[in-house]
Amino acid sequence: MSASRSVLLIIGGGIAAYKVLELIRRLKDRGIASRCILTKAGEQFVTPLSVSSLAGERCFTDLFSLTDEADIGHIQLSRSTDLLVVAPATADLIAKMANGHADDLASTALLATDKRVLIAPAMNPRMWQHPATRRNMAQLERDGILVVGPNSGAMAERGESGPGRMAEPPEILAAIELALAGEKPSTRAIGFLGRLPGRDHPPAGALAGRHVLITSGPTHEPIDPVRYIANRSSGKQGHAIAAAAAAAGARVTLVSGPVNLPDPPGVETVHVESAREMLAAVEGSLPADLAIFAAAVADWRVADAASEKMKKDGGKLPPLSLVENPDILATVAQRKNGRPGFVVGFAAETQNVIDYAKAKLARKGCDLIVANDVGGTGVMGGDANTVHLVTAEGIETWPTLPKEEVASRLVAHLARLLPAGG
Ligand code: CTP
Repeated sequence: MSASRSVLLIIGGGIAAYKVLELIRRLKDRGIASRCILTKAGEQFVTPLSVSSLAGERCFTDLFSLTDEADIGHIQLSRSTDLLVVAPATADLIAKMANGHADDLASTALLATDKRVLIAPAMNPRMWQHPATRRNMAQLERDGILVVGPNSGAMAERGESGPGRMAEPPEILAAIELALAGEKPSTRAIGFLGRLPGRDHPPAGALAGRHVLITSGPTHEPIDPVRYIANRSSGKQGHAIAAAAAAAGARVTLVSGPVNLPDPPGVETVHVESAREMLAAVEGSLPADLAIFAAAVADWRVADAASEKMKKDGGKLPPLSLVENPDILATVAQRKNGRPGFVVGFAAETQNVIDYAKAKLARKGCDLIVANDVGGTGVMGGDANTVHLVTAEGIETWPTLPKEEVASRLVAHLARLLPAGG
């Protein structure tokens, strides 16, 4: 290869494989040579001929080809390059990498290499969010594998959308250039998810010996025994944070409003209905080292909830008067005695997300606000979240991530910020 920089491109079996043809062309434009391995599944989507025509050299497909072994061999193939790039990185290839399989040319090259590896995952959102894939990705991140994408959006399958679309060729190219420059990809760049090894997932025992208190879900404020006022909230984000904190070794108390979710394993879950019950349960669970208020608490309740079901009265509307609920976050954050060491609030906003979050941080007296833009997207009840971490020192914006991953990153982040001590 005459170019001074080269990548070994491993093309997996996914519909996104066709985009890799464009990537090869773009790499060439940038003076980066690509040598390609096409997996068996990849051959179902693009042909060795189209790959080799674009790359300008033969495309490797078979581990046991004697000529290849004599010519070059999989060890040399995986080392006579500057970077290995897996695109699309299917769930199967990711699982093989995480577990060290070497049963075809692609997985053998990945195991034999001494170079950095960048993957561009692409799969159905449910496969991406499956606990097995989460585990495998966590392993790859620990192994120092670089990751670009996936993006959220519509899938090839009709009616399916969510995280799982392979990053676009320009994003993959940008990630390749960063990796070739020896830089750790930034977590801040939009659409680019280069993870720093060990930073996105809390190290084992990161919260050992700590008590973490979390509120989650909506509250229900009764109008009468059958009707109530509530905010939209599935509790998915708060529950995921509780699970992540428990996985990091914390003793976790989860105060949950009414949700359709199982209690997270290893977490003491207190079930409440109303804001006042939530406040009482929170205060009863103190002291805590860290308190995270992810619940969507109803701001108002009915002043005099009826004890019997209210009957319709010939078109006359019931006189409902509202009173404000206690602000649980502000009450705890502003405690003189027994304030948790670190207090985190959430802000769901539909506009001016950052400005409102900054104001909320000061008004409520908490240490960090996780602000999310809920305008027009499927955040409420959805599986992904785009968040900004707002503190007095500044703002950090994360790419759109599955709620489990937001939870895991947040726990890793907070474990680093927590004041020392027990
Ligand atoms: N919160 C709380 N108790 C309340 C209201 C809110 O603990 N009665 C917490 C939420 O759990 C969240 C944060 O406060 O962590 C932000 O809540 P939000 O309802 O967005 O803020 P508000 O103070 O109601 O501000 P606004 O309605 O102006 O957006």
